[in-house]
Amino acid sequence: MTITTSSDLDQLADLAARSVALIESLQHAGGAYPASPTFSAYQGYSWFRDGAFIADGMSAAGAVESASRFFDWCSRMLDQRRDRIAEIVAAEAAGTPLPDDRMLATRFTFDGDEGDDDWWDFQTDGYGTWVWACIAHAERHGLGLDRWADGIRLSVDYLLATWSRPCYDWWEEHAAETHVSTLGCVIAGLEAAARSGLLTADSAAAASSAAASARGLIADRGTHDGHVSKWLGSTAVDGSLAAVIAPLGVVEATSPLGLASIRAIETQLSVNGGVHRYLLDTFYGGGQWPLLSCFLGLAHARAGDRDAALHLLTWASRTETDEGFLPEQVPDHLLAPERRDEWLERWGPVATPLLWSHAMFVRLAVELDVLQPMTHSAEVSA
Ligand code: BGC
Repeated sequence: MTITTSSDLDQLADLAARSVALIESLQHAGGAYPASPTFSAYQGYSWFRDGAFIADGMSAAGAVESASRFFDWCSRMLDQRRDRIAEIVAAEAAGTPLPDDRMLATRFTFDGDEGDDDWWDFQTDGYGTWVWACIAHAERHGLGLDRWADGIRLSVDYLLATWSRPCYDWWEEHAAETHVSTLGCVIAGLEAAARSGLLTADSAAAASSAAASARGLIADRGTHDGHVSKWLGSTAVDGSLAAVIAPLGVVEATSPLGLASIRAIETQLSVNGGVHRYLLDTFYGGGQWPLLSCFLGLAHARAGDRDAALHLLTWASRTETDEGFLPEQVPDHLLAPERRDEWLERWGPVATPLLWSHAMFVRLAVELDVLQPMTHSAEVSA
């Protein structure tokens, strides 16, 4: 067990507060959160997945305007693609679904274009996650949803037409599979939208029914040995599955499935608190991701194990660089060391800072009362 002194807690709180300030300072004027300001392959782009979790962390920390502005950006991205969504929905309804390369992108430039670089684009998770995060934000701070209503409705239309299709996962891999984490994000978004009061009765019923079908798929084919699995039919776990427990809350943390899943991620993927993505990971040699330690910490916290959560937060804090940045991953324990150099040559040093890492650190620090959320007046004067 880790003994955490009050001076340790102060240091954790300090890193969390600096993380909020860093994210705010890097947010684009139009609301987009850059994934990483300097990393070759991510520079200039904002992801729905990263951004939704970043906004959730900022919202939890009391940075209300920052989170709201990100959701404005998401709504704009959807509004600008209204016709494309209508085409996708119509083709699906006619029984002639459009191919994957006609689906919505997973990341956009800050100004809202698809950009010129090829990417592993068809990923549905972010369209569920932002809806979940936006509605959670509005509920947390007592805000109306009108400002994001169109974007939420468009996302629901898009998800209803696409949610059951195999697509790339959180790690932009394995496009032929149906991923349990992706389903978890879709379920969280559809269920939040269905109870938001923003949808027509028909659309709310369709959203609830799709979420129930997705839950059924997970129950029937998305578990192994009592825990949730990486994709339907897989026996493996993936670090992203912790998010389905918390913060998404799709699997109840204290249920047998929740507890067994936490245990499986902990025993199979965590090495001293540093969590790997999955056992066969080779990206930059397959290191440990601080953001995944924080997701696992959130799941532990939701299950009532504060010590385990604090241990994971502490591990994540130790990945801070001399410049005060949290990276995407660290190479202290590699699953495929022989594959690290090829990525260093291809894309240069690991993405640092990764805003998503900072945000998950903030989210867990708030959950553990290590960081006290800012009050509105503090945010206004910041
Ligand atoms: C990760 C994605 C992430 C993206 C931007 C990729 O390497 O696999 O999960 O969204 O980087 O941070």
